[in-house]
Amino acid sequence: MKRKVAVLPGDGIGKEVMEGSMKVLNAVADRFGHTFEFHFARIGGAAIDQEGMPLPEETLNTCKKSDAVLLGAVGGPKWENLPGHLRPERGLLGIRKELGLFANLRPVTAFDSLIDASPLKADRIKGVDMLIVRELTGGLYFGTPSERRNNGKEVVDTLHYTRDEMERIIDQGFEAAQKRNKKLTSVDKANVLESSRMWREVVEEKALNYPDVEVEHMLVDAAAMKLVQNPAYFDVIVTENLFGDILSDEASMITGSLGMLPSASLRSDGFGMYEPVHGSAPDIEGKNIANPLAMILSSAMMLKYSFDMNEEAESIEKAVKEVLDAGYYTSDLANGSPKALGTDAMIKKVIYQLEEADATAGIMEAYA
Ligand code: IPM
Ligand code: MN
Repeated sequence: MKRKVAVLPGDGIGKEVMEGSMKVLNAVADRFGHTFEFHFARIGGAAIDQEGMPLPEETLNTCKKSDAVLLGAVGGPKWENLPGHLRPERGLLGIRKELGLFANLRPVTAFDSLIDASPLKADRIKGVDMLIVRELTGGLYFGTPSERRNNGKEVVDTLHYTRDEMERIIDQGFEAAQKRNKKLTSVDKANVLESSRMWREVVEEKALNYPDVEVEHMLVDAAAMKLVQNPAYFDVIVTENLFGDILSDEASMITGSLGMLPSASLRSDGFGMYEPVHGSAPDIEGKNIANPLAMILSSAMMLKYSFDMNEEAESIEKAVKEVLDAGYYTSDLANGSPKALGTDAMIKKVIYQLEEADATAGIMEAYA
């Protein structure tokens, strides 16, 4: 099967980890007889340098003409002093909004072999397997532009949501819970925010349509505490944009590193953009030490959610797990241990593991 993939490496380590995704996808293509056609485009600082804006029209068009989008990361100190609307992050927020990618899925899984890499105690993180469903195109991030202001003495950001925007993301939360362990935690700040009170109302209404899902409300401060106290408690968390941003960084520490967390940003028709949860990490750019696994696992999510290639996606997840089980790691997972693999070497290990599985399958067939 032939698929067009828009590839937006972005800035910093985004470029380095994207290499991993493309190489792994090519290995998957060979093994399963697919073709992935990569179409490159610029976003963030890379686009500012070339075209003077963080999200050029051409980049959007490339994405719209593709079957899915892979994105590395954006931002860096070089562009830090630009006005808000010209910052690299604006490119990322713009593309999410323009493509209508309102549902951000961030799975957090504890790998047994990384249990010592987590700053949390092993007995707390064993068996953690949760999904954070974050609203991605509303809330404080996209407050009404005419109301957003800063005159030096007074500053205003507005938190805006329509009921429809809440309904569609809450549906995503319930649907995800239905496919998993049927437990949904809706996170809000209903003791303070009006928006959270409407959010709760919508959750209550929607719950009637999903009688098999056990649903509860949790205040965001309590959820932040529970995530370190007993992370295995959670199955699916559904929450608004900013809460989801903060909680997903917090949850990443369960896996030992932000460098392990993939994400999918979806529209209701299945079109999606796939990016690691981590940023462009300019401090380690060009050093060949970035962890490519979050980006590689993001491409597995692309295969699963946009291309319905479950077996292919699982082959990537399995290869990553096997490489970790074999004791390989990158420096983010090992406090800078000199024995850690570099980015390129980690990518090679994953591909070798994928090809190994292919060869084994061939032998099994020969004997069948
Ligand atoms: C993320 C990032 C972005 C966000 C930034 C870079 C705008 O932190 O994807 O979580 O806040 O959404
Ligand atoms: Mn974030």
